[in-house]
Amino acid sequence: MPEAIISPSVLASDFGQLTAECTRMLKGGAQWLHMDVMDGHFVPNITMGAPVLKCVHKGVPGIFMDVHMMVSNPERWVDDIADAGGALYCFHIEAASDPISLIHAIHKRNMKAGVAISPDTPSSAITDDIGALADMLLVMTVYPGRGGQKFLERCVPKVAELRARFPEKDIEVDGGLNPKTVHVCAEAAAQRAPPPASLLLAMPQGSNVIVAGTAIYGADDPPAVIQTLKDAVNT
Ligand code: DX5
Ligand code: ZN
Repeated sequence: MPEAIISPSVLASDFGQLTAECTRMLKGGAQWLHMDVMDGHFVPNITMGAPVLKCVHKGVPGIFMDVHMMVSNPERWVDDIADAGGALYCFHIEAASDPISLIHAIHKRNMKAGVAISPDTPSSAITDDIGALADMLLVMTVYPGRGGQKFLERCVPKVAELRARFPEKDIEVDGGLNPKTVHVCAEAAAQRAPPPASLLLAMPQGSNVIVAGTAIYGADDPPAVIQTLKDAVNT
């Protein structure tokens, strides 16, 4: 089964202390850091780009940067993000004109490739060939563009659909995740018909990569929240 991975979204952190904000999450049990890149075009806001990621990569040894590209023309930034130390390049299917070529370009730069779908995009937009080639699939549970929004439970069936089609892939959820909303995502596979008993042990559940910004950075005890989110995936 894919491993439980917690990827705190630095969007909810103090940008003036970015390296320290990442370091304390790794010390608190997070494996990845979720870096939200917004271009003011695909989404209305602007956040950070490759120069900032490069400084974070330099300042936080061993960091795995899970880079969520909320940008138009995602093919344009592959080299810059790779040069900045990005470990996973996740683009939106809605913005990509040739997803297969883009995944190949990402792999060529030794990054993992992620494919994201916004709330109004069906899971079928991730075709079998795209899903087979990608390393991670991201189901947005809020409209991309800002942190602190309300979790959209209607997106959860897409997690179950993708998990059924891609049992070995990392499936990430992002938006409004907290110790209460995580369960429905982590257990999304339970909503479909149970697999044959012989397959049960090998079958992953729903999402295994959990992004959370407000719920982790806003907590009094972030390591406890990280552990709670991890446990939700593991049980
Ligand atoms: C939304 C971003 C998310 C966001 C999550 O556009 O992609 O990563 O930071 O923040 P919370 O956990 O506060 O909803
Ligand atoms: Zn994100």
